[in-house]
Amino acid sequence: MRIVPLLALILGASVLGAALPGGGVVAAAVAPQTVAVPPITACSAINKRKIIITRTSIGIQGAVTTKNWRTSQWAAAVLDPMYRLSSSYRPTNLVRITWRGVISTKGGYWLKREAADALSAMFVEAKASNISLKILSAYRSYATQRAIFAKWVAKSGLQLARKYSAVPGHSEHQLGTTVDLGSLTGVSWSSPKFPTSQTALWLEANAYKFGFVRSYPAGSANVALSCYGAEAWHWRYVGKDLAYEIVCSAQVPRIFLWNRQNGGERVIGPACDSFTPPEGYVLPSPSPTPPASEVPTESPSASPTESPTASPTETPVTPP
Ligand code: DAL
Ligand code: ZN
Repeated sequence: MRIVPLLALILGASVLGAALPGGGVVAAAVAPQTVAVPPITACSAINKRKIIITRTSIGIQGAVTTKNWRTSQWAAAVLDPMYRLSSSYRPTNLVRITWRGVISTKGGYWLKREAADALSAMFVEAKASNISLKILSAYRSYATQRAIFAKWVAKSGLQLARKYSAVPGHSEHQLGTTVDLGSLTGVSWSSPKFPTSQTALWLEANAYKFGFVRSYPAGSANVALSCYGAEAWHWRYVGKDLAYEIVCSAQVPRIFLWNRQNGGERVIGPACDSFTPPEGYVLPSPSPTPPASEVPTESPSASPTESPTASPTETPVTPP
C-alpha cells in the first residue's frame, strides 16, 4: 500500500528534476516565469477614436473597463482614453480634506484615506521648505467629471478638451487618489510659468517621497505615451514603493502600470541613483502573476455607505 504513493512521488519528481546515479533526485532550478506583456494601444490611435455623445451618455468608441483590475488594486489601475472605470465606481474610505491639506470634517474636498494622509504630510513638509500648496481638485465622481469635461468642451472645443480633460469614467480623479495642486501664494496653475515655478519644481523633486507621481509629464515623447497634454498640477497617489519604482524606471506612469497590471516583471532603474528609496524599501523579487485570462475582471463598485454625503466643492477654476 505504501509503494504506490512513493512511486508516484519519484515519478512526479523525476519530471521536475534529474535522477542521480544512486537513485535520488535533485530539484532543477525553476526558471522565473516571464509573462509576455501585450503591447499597449498607442495614444495616437486611441485619440483618433470618436467620442460618442448622446442625450444620456458620453463615451469613447471602443473603450473598455480597465483590465485585470480589482478594487483593492486602485494604485496600479491603468486609466487612459481606452481604459475606464465603471460609472458607478466610488472609492472606499473617502475622507474630507481642506484646500490647505488638513483632514477635517469641514474640508470641501474628498480623498481616499491613504491619499489624504500622504497629502497632508506632504503639505507640512512643503511648508517647511516655504512652499505653500493648495488643493485645486481631488476626488471627482463620474457625474462631476462629466460636468468638468462638458465645461472644457464648451470653452475650448472637443479636440482641445480631450487633450487635457478625461471623458467621464476615464479620469484618475474618480479613483479618489488623485489631486490637482497649485500654489497658495505663487504662480497660478494655469500660467505657462507654472511648470517652472518653485511649487512645481518642489513637487517634481519631492512628491514621490510621499507616494505621488505625476501622471502627465512634459515633453512630446511623454505626451505621446501618457495620452494627455502635460499637466504639472495633476498628481496621483500610488504609495511610496510604487512611486519610487515609477520614478526609478523613468517611464511614464501609464506605461509602468500597464506592465505591472499585465503581470510584467518589475522594472527597477535606470534612474534610481537620482531618487531615495522609501525607508525599509526592499527590492522586489519577480513574482509570477497569473496570466490575464485567469484573473477575473472585477467591475468596481462600493456600497452606498462608503459614498460621501456631500459633493466636493468645485470652484470655477477647476483644472481639467
Ligand atoms: N486632466 C485629467 C486628464 C483628468 O481630467 O483626469
Ligand atoms: Zn487632475
